[in-house]
Amino acid sequence: MVMNNNIIVLGIETSCDETAVAIIKYHKKNNRFMVLSHILASQIKLHAKYGGVFPELASRAHEQKIIPIINRAILKAKIDHKALDAIAVTYGPGLVGSLLIGTTAASTLSYIWGKPLVAVNHLEGHIYSNLIKDTKIKFPLLILIASGGHTELIFAKKFGEYQMIGQTLDDAAGEAFDKIAKLLDLAYPGGPALSQLAQKGDSNKYKFSLPLNQNNNFNFSFSGLKTAVLYQFKSLKKPISEQTKADLAASFQKTLIDSLVKKTSLATLKYKPSTVLIGGGVASNEKLRVDLEENIRKLKIIFKKPDISLCTDNGIGIACAGAVKFTENKIISWKDLSVDSNAKISRV
Ligand code: KG4
Ligand code: ZN
Repeated sequence: MVMNNNIIVLGIETSCDETAVAIIKYHKKNNRFMVLSHILASQIKLHAKYGGVFPELASRAHEQKIIPIINRAILKAKIDHKALDAIAVTYGPGLVGSLLIGTTAASTLSYIWGKPLVAVNHLEGHIYSNLIKDTKIKFPLLILIASGGHTELIFAKKFGEYQMIGQTLDDAAGEAFDKIAKLLDLAYPGGPALSQLAQKGDSNKYKFSLPLNQNNNFNFSFSGLKTAVLYQFKSLKKPISEQTKADLAASFQKTLIDSLVKKTSLATLKYKPSTVLIGGGVASNEKLRVDLEENIRKLKIIFKKPDISLCTDNGIGIACAGAVKFTENKIISWKDLSVDSNAKISRV
């Protein structure tokens, strides 16, 4: 294949409740990415009344938005679709109905425009969201992905070669944030609302034990913590004051973040990466960003975090991962593209 040095890629992400499309330019020789456009339609308002993502509604909303958003992304990038070198799309993990809208749009456009297609793992998109600012990353990497659907520790000797060294045994970190936020009657999605409320609370007011603290492994568990917060909540005299709610939010957040920080620090000591990266919606949590950075820097290891706007689901990370895979000739025919709601990053 004749490879241009400047590669233009359209990235499509529809794995959950964000319809996101980005067009990026990748300069292979300089290993630099440039965002030409990024359009994102959030479904937050649509799902708010259910207190969580309603899968059927999510796929319908993706279906309505995907083509207009692709069109807008192309217009905003000021390119013709003929200038695209490849189309990258999330094939999993995620909600099947949502993933199918993105992959169907991508494979249809690949067929009618005659463009190569690249399938990207959603978690790899979160990892690549770190690269837009800074591509000079020292390997090996230790990556903490914490989102609404995932909590995983991944070790990578290079991009594309991932080893999962720990994961949640039950709820994901973001899911726990969302559930406790619902208990405290906060707006959906709960993570941002709960962390804001926690700023006004005393994080030492209620003591919750650190999950899986005694285990010498890097797995997480948040369902016991969730139950402990629920019991604490039930034991409180009603109506609960705003201050008590804030104290409960702060104490819960402290325990969950301490667990993420502790396991990531322990894994850093064992695996000795050169760089620790974070990604996923929970990576936008200020306490996690500050506490983890402090702990990793103490270990004399480089710590990197994406911009807050790129922690949650986005099209930029998918397009960047797609561009690199395209240069490695990891192309798939539109006929072979299928979704995998449980796709594992270790099999990328
Ligand atoms: O990565 P993401 O957009 O979607 C998934 O792949 O799941 O992550 C969304 C999750 C939600 O659970 C949301 O509550 C959580 O990230 N989140 C936060 C914060 N911002 C978003 N959790 C804690 N603190 C935050 N500031
Ligand atoms: Zn995500």
